[in-house]
Amino acid sequence: MHKILANTIFLGKDVIILTECHSTNDIAYQKFKAKEAKEGSIIITDKQIKGRGQRGSQWFSEPEMNLTFSLILTPFFLDASEQFGLNMAVSLGIREALSEYVTGIKVKWPNDIVHDESGKLGGILIENTISNKGIELSVVGVGLNINQTHFPFPNATSVAQLAGAAMDKEEIFRRMISKIEKYYLLLKKGHEKKIRDLYKSHLYKFRKMSNYNDGKDFIGEIVGISDQGKLIIEKENKSLHQYAFKEVKFV
Ligand code: BTN
Repeated sequence: MHKILANTIFLGKDVIILTECHSTNDIAYQKFKAKEAKEGSIIITDKQIKGRGQRGSQWFSEPEMNLTFSLILTPFFLDASEQFGLNMAVSLGIREALSEYVTGIKVKWPNDIVHDESGKLGGILIENTISNKGIELSVVGVGLNINQTHFPFPNATSVAQLAGAAMDKEEIFRRMISKIEKYYLLLKKGHEKKIRDLYKSHLYKFRKMSNYNDGKDFIGEIVGISDQGKLIIEKENKSLHQYAFKEVKFV
């Protein structure tokens, strides 16, 4: 089934709804390659049976309860070294949309959406196809806990759990797509710095002394995000360190 979102310029003008699929990211990639989907198309399902997460992990989502979808974007205006701009733009859109329902929503570097005190609400898995012309294809997979209230693992939460009531996930989806589009177009117009400043202002544990591990446990404070999207942490002894994805863990 196909649907068209009315409140956007290009994103979601073709929403492909699947009753069940293994991974919306895989389907999005296949459909783009087969020319059955283009920039702005969205693949969404209520039952994803082989969802993929970051670091090769699996993404579990209770059928019918949550949002699991993938956006197709062609951000040829970004080169490989600028790809974190897209992570920031998408994270900001999601955070802003969810903040219309509950307070305390933060973006956790690099790709998580969390609640300040209650844990992880969702994550983003961006898979880019890069050539010498820049980023030719970006499949942006989003998994968000909306109405699920029981989780088989710790530190997970949902919008319904935070709000204390079941949510209208189609409405959240529509609002979120419009916000993601807003930040994507801002990035396209060259406002990367503004996006990075906003991302920092909503960053989980920004300027708060916390425990990390980079091979060794240490105490430090997140003080920034580098041009390439690395996390900048100031250690207790005031030395500055930049970390790529997987080089540092929040403890
Ligand atoms: C994470 O590990 O936090 C990222 C999770 C991303 C999950 C989403 S659900 C929709 C899309 N399809 C997938 O297979 N993964 C992403």
